[in-house]
Amino acid sequence: MQIFCTIKEVKSFVDEKKQLGNVIGFVPTMGALHQGHISLIETSRKQTDITICSIFVNPTQFNNADDLKHYPRTPDNDIQMLQDAKCDILYMPDVNDIYPNNETQQFDFGKIGNVLEGEHRPGHFNGVGQVVSILLKGIQPHKAFFGSKDYQQVMIVKELVKQQNLSVDIISCPILREPDGLAMSSRNKRLTVEERKVASLIPIIMKKAADLAREKGVTYAKLYVDEQIHQQPLMKLDYYEICDAESLDLLQDIYNKRAISLIAVFVGAIRLIDNLEI
Ligand code: PAF
Repeated sequence: MQIFCTIKEVKSFVDEKKQLGNVIGFVPTMGALHQGHISLIETSRKQTDITICSIFVNPTQFNNADDLKHYPRTPDNDIQMLQDAKCDILYMPDVNDIYPNNETQQFDFGKIGNVLEGEHRPGHFNGVGQVVSILLKGIQPHKAFFGSKDYQQVMIVKELVKQQNLSVDIISCPILREPDGLAMSSRNKRLTVEERKVASLIPIIMKKAADLAREKGVTYAKLYVDEQIHQQPLMKLDYYEICDAESLDLLQDIYNKRAISLIAVFVGAIRLIDNLEI
């Protein structure tokens, strides 16, 4: 695996490979890699000829300075994992390569940008839009792979690609879970042993709530989640919503609709998200 620090080097590598007829896959990450990221690399390797991964902890998408400061960083382990997964290129820029002029760009993603994560983490999706736009324009892959744990982020990225007329396929990949069901996340590394135990309740509560939503309705399911999380002293609910899976409109009932439940919950100081189709 070759490691590049500038987007210029990545682009000239990509241009060369494209001229030879290769299909380029791209997996953007913020590092602290886990098996979920590796599954994106594997999917890219199956669907393309050359796989590029980026590791960049993007400061503009953090609306909480403490979260940015403590975001896990494990570069040596990341490099080893990517090598083992046979990733071709790792792009590991420093902040000046991504934001050379310090300029900021403002996006309007409409309704899907203003609910859930958009509402609870102001500025977050603007930061995601900035960095993903720079990466996609700089690297120009044929396909880019994103994990669907960040369900809303995938929708935002698709909207960004549409708005900016970029010719890249955005591929949404399934959530990978730990054996106890907890969705894999770099932030799981920050949980204490006790918090990690409690966090395993999240998928259990979501599964039961999805059943309740089908049997007794959305209001009942939401009350159930509220109550269950409230009973856990280490947990605090940020939101639990049941939405139309295509528009993210909040649903009052799920009849004849493709519905998805989405949760954000603090376990201690660590904010975790997850989602489950209903
Ligand atoms: O999902 C992530 O890790 C980040 O939001 C992304 C897409 C790499 C942009 O910084």
